[in-house]
Amino acid sequence: MKLLALESTCDETAAAIVTEDLDVLASVVASQEDLHQAFGGVVPEIAARAHLERMLPVIDQALQRAELRLADLDAIAVATTPGLAGSLVVGLMAAKTLALITGKPLVAINHLQAHIYACQVAGKRSVFPCLGLIVSGGHTSLYNCPTAVDFEPLGGTIDDAAGEAFDKVASMLGLSYPGGPSIAEAAQRGDPRAHRLPRALLNDSSRLDFSFSGLKTAVRYLIAGPGKVDFTECRLSPAAVADIAASFQEAVVDCLVGKTELALERTGLQTLCVGGGVAANARFRDRLREMTQRRQVTLEIAPPALCTDNAVMGAIAFEKLRAGQAEALDLDVMPGLVRHASSR
Ligand code: KG4
Ligand code: ZN
Repeated sequence: MKLLALESTCDETAAAIVTEDLDVLASVVASQEDLHQAFGGVVPEIAARAHLERMLPVIDQALQRAELRLADLDAIAVATTPGLAGSLVVGLMAAKTLALITGKPLVAINHLQAHIYACQVAGKRSVFPCLGLIVSGGHTSLYNCPTAVDFEPLGGTIDDAAGEAFDKVASMLGLSYPGGPSIAEAAQRGDPRAHRLPRALLNDSSRLDFSFSGLKTAVRYLIAGPGKVDFTECRLSPAAVADIAASFQEAVVDCLVGKTELALERTGLQTLCVGGGVAANARFRDRLREMTQRRQVTLEIAPPALCTDNAVMGAIAFEKLRAGQAEALDLDVMPGLVRHASSR
């Protein structure tokens, strides 16, 4: 069985062709980073229009790379929740049209479950039941995942997502968008102990939640001076930027790893699956490895290209197909809550 999966939840237009044995025959990702750079975050309307331009060429390229034609496909899958409404609609309309033309089943993908499933695709082995940690630009959440398509939320951010905090702090430091990779790069030259930054909720063992907005404000004061909000005129040396980046990154990683360890302790789960763009962060990966080895828990974490948005993780659709869960052509999108530039 061969599946074409589409992804357009946020600012990546992606298509992948994957077999039931989780062999990836093609994976194409068209990023929109350049379009959103000037805004320091994703602008929903620009994202939707860019998906419209890129979706068909991306699908074409995936078919060419896999040396397949539409008629060779056995199913069409598309991420329908959560995401930006206008972006989701473009992917869904493309998928519906292909399903109609080919007469093949249409499968709806939950983008968050797909981020966790990326670990199963990467390792080509079953990773369930597991504790799922999703850390992206729009989400920072812990889930109890008995199977690939069942998940129970255990906790999550009460304000900003971790990736959003990376993007915002990078913009304050004059680093490029997306902020995660640029902060990680600057942090390599900095001292993570240079500044004492808050780790909100980390010592509150009664909950499995995160909060990053206070950390963001603390960095703002660090740059502008106590109580001041305007930092646009501040000129930091590269060494000062590196120290702030390293101290910020360490504070985020402490919170993520600390709460995940608490969730492992509470649930007794023996496998941890981590997905989402922030899971591409090298320091975070090292700290997760150290914590899971100490606890003798199996860590499943995909290579960075499968942590950030991609369509390969849409292979989760096979799980639904096996359970006979195809969709009718009146399927709609469920945007839910995600970040966008105007909410920053
Ligand atoms: O999963 P993703 O590609 O898209 C969403 O669904 O949001 O995640 C994007 C987020 C951005 O906030 C980006 O700054 C962050 O992932 N990110 C990173 C790294 N690479 C991407 N954060 C920290 N370190 C990285 N190396
Ligand atoms: Zn994502």
